[in-house]
Amino acid sequence: MHSRTPYIAANWKMHKTVAEAAEFVDALLPRIAATQSDVVICPPFTALAEVVERRRGTAVKVAAQNMHEADSGAFTGEVSGPMLVELDVEAVVLGHSERRQYFSETDEALARKVAAALAHELEPILCVGESEEARDAGETEGVLERQLQADLAAIDDLAVGGVVIAYEPIWAIGTGRTATPEQAQEACAFIRDVLRARGAAAEEVRILYGGSVKPANAAELLALPDVDGALVGGASLDPEEFAAIVDAT
Ligand code: 13P
Repeated sequence: MHSRTPYIAANWKMHKTVAEAAEFVDALLPRIAATQSDVVICPPFTALAEVVERRRGTAVKVAAQNMHEADSGAFTGEVSGPMLVELDVEAVVLGHSERRQYFSETDEALARKVAAALAHELEPILCVGESEEARDAGETEGVLERQLQADLAAIDDLAVGGVVIAYEPIWAIGTGRTATPEQAQEACAFIRDVLRARGAAAEEVRILYGGSVKPANAAELLALPDVDGALVGGASLDPEEFAAIVDAT
């Protein structure tokens, strides 16, 4: 058994209006009042302030789903670290595969974003994961290692301890095809090895699994030695389902 506090994050993606977000938080809070785990909600930008206010006085943390690396500037449509900090947002998801795939997010930009997030004391939740083609070609570890090296290139080894890593195999996202416990454990242990080889305090880093996590499979995944939590998409939209996943820690 390790001593890392479990970390369960709800990535709502482009779901929930402000009113829907408020309703969710009010329904969730009583259901998770007794948890010892870190619980994080990642709403769209428009609902961040509402979720921050509703969870005040609780242990629930709030994360954005992306941010720009610059503090301000001519970057139409972007949001910066200081803007998130002003709202009392505590963390930020970076490098989700949907952003890499649909918005051409590069590892070079991610390296800058991870450094900027840490500079603003926002906890980065860095997503890595292989495509189905890469897994079939036996390249899973190569992909993970390349992403980790590139995305963490701009921070020093000590700072790596403050990053949360989410292992999200692309083929498991939104498909109902959850990674098997063996696949999830193997990949998360490999990620920890890469961090250790880099000289980081790898035992401190929370490594999450994401990809079709549901109440029915959460306990098995969360019991794995190198899986310290979950990044939940679809099942995080319903307070009862998400609370059931938090309960599985
Ligand atoms: P699903 O849980 O819907 O598969 O999404 C996973 C994910 O992408 C979380 O970031």
